[in-house]
Amino acid sequence: MGPSNATGAGPNGGGGGSVRQQFVSLTGVPGAVGEKTGEENLATACLRREHLLIAQVLDCFEHVLRQARGKRRVVKEEFAPFIEFFAEYLDGCHREKEEQCLFRCLVDSFGYSEENGPIQKLVYEHEAGRRRVSIMATHLDDAAAGQRHAVRLFLEQARAFRDILRGHVSAENQGLFEAVDQQIHPGHPEFERLQRSYEQTDQEPDNQTSLSRGQALGRQILEQFASNVK
Ligand SMILES: [Fe+2]
Ligand SMILES: [Fe+2]
Repeated sequence: MGPSNATGAGPNGGGGGSVRQQFVSLTGVPGAVGEKTGEENLATACLRREHLLIAQVLDCFEHVLRQARGKRRVVKEEFAPFIEFFAEYLDGCHREKEEQCLFRCLVDSFGYSEENGPIQKLVYEHEAGRRRVSIMATHLDDAAAGQRHAVRLFLEQARAFRDILRGHVSAENQGLFEAVDQQIHPGHPEFERLQRSYEQTDQEPDNQTSLSRGQALGRQILEQFASNVK
């Protein structure tokens, strides 16, 4: 599929860093929604916090998808909240902050390339995920009505989306974000600027709506399905 070998931590894809698993273990389900984690001194704190919710919702999505694949049956009421969550929260809030705030900062102030390396790969995956969510949304009604072609297409796209998103979140947490947190620490001029840009992005009227709607959907999904996932 797209560019490869670019998940490393360095500006052009090289290097790596220790996995910040401790951060992920600090919060549970469903308290991660909008909660402080005690790791607010990280330049990527708000993005990592959003990853927690996204990963929990993705676990639930995987459960629903597994059942649908087993029965070859797509239930609209089950999948519709996920599709809306991925469009509103993942795409409308989270990815916008990554691309407009963090990636922009890395390109403008730290010499990262938009043409190759981790940023190019991550942006490519954002677009690939967005396309698959769009295809799922387009075919949801026909799949739910039992049209065989639509069911097959929907389930293929859902599976591909799951794989992309799971790998993507892991690559960000363990690659680029790790490098950023080692480089942009409190006291660095870019640290406060980044925090302000995250907040300003969240406060834009359209994004406020997407954020609150996305968080509400996330809570709803976790309440409904979290007990079904390990
Ligand atoms: Fe991302
Ligand atoms: Fe992300």
